[in-house]
Amino acid sequence: MALKSVLFVCLLVATIAAPIANAQLGLIGSLLGLIRVQGTLFCTLNGAMGVNGTATPVFPNALVQMQCGAGNVVASATTNGAGLFSILLDPLQFVLSSLLTNCKLVVNTPLSTCNVSLPSVGGLQSALQLVGNTVQGLLSIANVIPAGFQFLPSLP
Ligand SMILES: *[C@@H]1O[C@H](CO)[C@@H](O)[C@H](O)[C@H]1NC(C)=O
Ligand SMILES: *[C@@H]1O[C@H](CO)[C@@H](O)[C@H](O)[C@H]1NC(C)=O
Repeated sequence: MALKSVLFVCLLVATIAAPIANAQLGLIGSLLGLIRVQGTLFCTLNGAMGVNGTATPVFPNALVQMQCGAGNVVASATTNGAGLFSILLDPLQFVLSSLLTNCKLVVNTPLSTCNVSLPSVGGLQSALQLVGNTVQGLLSIANVIPAGFQFLPSLP
């Protein structure tokens, strides 16, 4: 009789505990989402790979700002020695769809710092583009890249 009630309690605990564990996992899963804005800047007038292909020099130490709305800087990153920049955003703070329509990347660092023949005033600007999602275990990353930089003689 005593054994039966112990079994019953165990069964009861198991049926109650399982949905709670699943609910917690769901919550954690949705917390482990990230938005990654990534790209490579080249040392050319439009920041893109030039006629020389992969031999095109990159633009290191350039400050890449993400500006939203009326030019508010919400995040920034500096390109590394390979011209690469990466900005990670918390989706709890940024809604992806509004990010793609309201935000842009702005590079204020003069192009002349990587090549003296390039302009020393003005800068680069690009819209954002979603290229897909990467799922790594519980982590879901929305991959966003610059749609294409343009040189602006004077940045707004
Ligand atoms: C392309 O490569 C050639 C040969 O190395 C060089 O003279 C030229 O300046 C390069 N052009 C650009 C735009 O980087
Ligand atoms: C510097 O920029 C000029 C003008 O775009 C270009 O002709 C030249 O090849 C560049 N130099 C290097 C080293 O990339």
